[in-house]
Amino acid sequence: MPERDKTIAIIGQGYVGLPLAMAAIGAGWSVIGVENSPAKFEEISRGSSPVEDVADSLIQAGQKSGKYKVSNSSSAVKDASIVIICVPTPLDEKRAPDLAILESAVKGIAPHLAFGTLVISESTSYPGTVRDVVKPLIEKLKSAPDVKIDIAVAPERVNPGDAKYHQKNTPRLVGGLDAQSTTRAVDFYSTICDQVVQVSSPEVAETAKLLENTFRLVNIALVNQLAQLCGDQNINVHEVIDAAASKPYGFMKFTPSVGVGGHCIPVDPMYLSWWAEKNGKNASIIEESDEINLGMPIYVAKRVRELLPSTAKRKRVLILGVAYKPGVKDVRETPVTALRNDLISHGCEVAWIDPLVSEWEGLKPADASWECDVAVVATAQPGLPIAAIAARGVPILDCTGVFKDLPNVTRL
Ligand SMILES: NC(=O)c1ccc[n+]([C@@H]2O[C@H](COP(=O)([O-])OP(=O)(O)OC[C@H]3O[C@@H](n4cnc5c(N)ncnc54)[C@H](O)[C@@H]3O)[C@@H](O)[C@H]2O)c1
Repeated sequence: MPERDKTIAIIGQGYVGLPLAMAAIGAGWSVIGVENSPAKFEEISRGSSPVEDVADSLIQAGQKSGKYKVSNSSSAVKDASIVIICVPTPLDEKRAPDLAILESAVKGIAPHLAFGTLVISESTSYPGTVRDVVKPLIEKLKSAPDVKIDIAVAPERVNPGDAKYHQKNTPRLVGGLDAQSTTRAVDFYSTICDQVVQVSSPEVAETAKLLENTFRLVNIALVNQLAQLCGDQNINVHEVIDAAASKPYGFMKFTPSVGVGGHCIPVDPMYLSWWAEKNGKNASIIEESDEINLGMPIYVAKRVRELLPSTAKRKRVLILGVAYKPGVKDVRETPVTALRNDLISHGCEVAWIDPLVSEWEGLKPADASWECDVAVVATAQPGLPIAAIAARGVPILDCTGVFKDLPNVTRL
């Protein structure tokens, strides 16, 4: 058994927890990865990675060296001096924060935390979550009243599929509930990151994380609305954006799309707007941006239908790329679902292809030779047979802006 002082436990071995585990092993830590999904636990146990950014060989090397083991029991945290929570924080059916998974994870570990353990939450949530939700649960459920637990927040900023920015070169925000918690969390992240940014409270770290993703949501909504404004005015929105981007300061380029997807951009800003409402305020810019982005698949579906040849009887539409962004197989919150549903509700026959996704909503991908009346590129996934489809004379609506040089392609 590795020494407790040099052992960390990571709750949740998904997009955030597994890369963190591998980075920590690289920095000399022994890691216990706690994963409660039986399928993921089994997959990782046999040395196979459920996350694109983590190679199987890394997991296998960790297992072989004894530096990494995966457990399906929260009680495994008893052997760690630092416990890092990396579990999902989704929205409920009213698009309000759903902290049930986070609360359940904290309840699971609290009775097993040894004296002096540092608990860090990397899960994204609204300001005050760690102070008002995580801490009281730990205090209530820890094994004895005199078991001292340090607590901090260090929001994850990982960008799945990003070859340039990873754990080491992405600065890490850290805020603890007291000076000791902060110092210990800063010391830990300094072993895996080049730069740790210490802030004065967990609430500053929690709010900064929400600001980062709200910034993206709002700017994406801005260009998506501009795409709709330019769409019927014979102004190419991509040319407009490129022209604006020639300004060397004060402008950041965002491009139109089918909408926003994944676990972060459609979700995190809603935590901020829910928190504003809880405090009697209204984050109207978030609500408006959310509405614009949610409306994009419906707008795209209309543009697709406009490209259908008038002779098309079955109105067969092929969707190219269904993951929420290129380079990943993640289909969580993908806006392509709304696009597909809207096309079907307008009588279209819809099939899809995505080289990284083997099954989507219980459906298998179509064959690239499927005869369609129109194709729509929703996500610029590598390996899509777009050139071959364009060469067949099929009209294509490109929502990604990437395929402008192919014949028969109309850009959003
Ligand atoms: N994915 C991203 O790009 C990203 C980026 C930054 C921040 N975040 C935030 O990080 C957090 C985790 O997101 P993710 O994308 O890694 O989620 P994920 O679904 O990929 O992974 C979370 C894992 O936690 C496991 N889990 C849930 N409850 C558990 C428990 N009690 N014990 C053990 N395992 C448990 C799940 O089975 C799952 O495998 C969320 O708050 C998210 O908002 C995600």
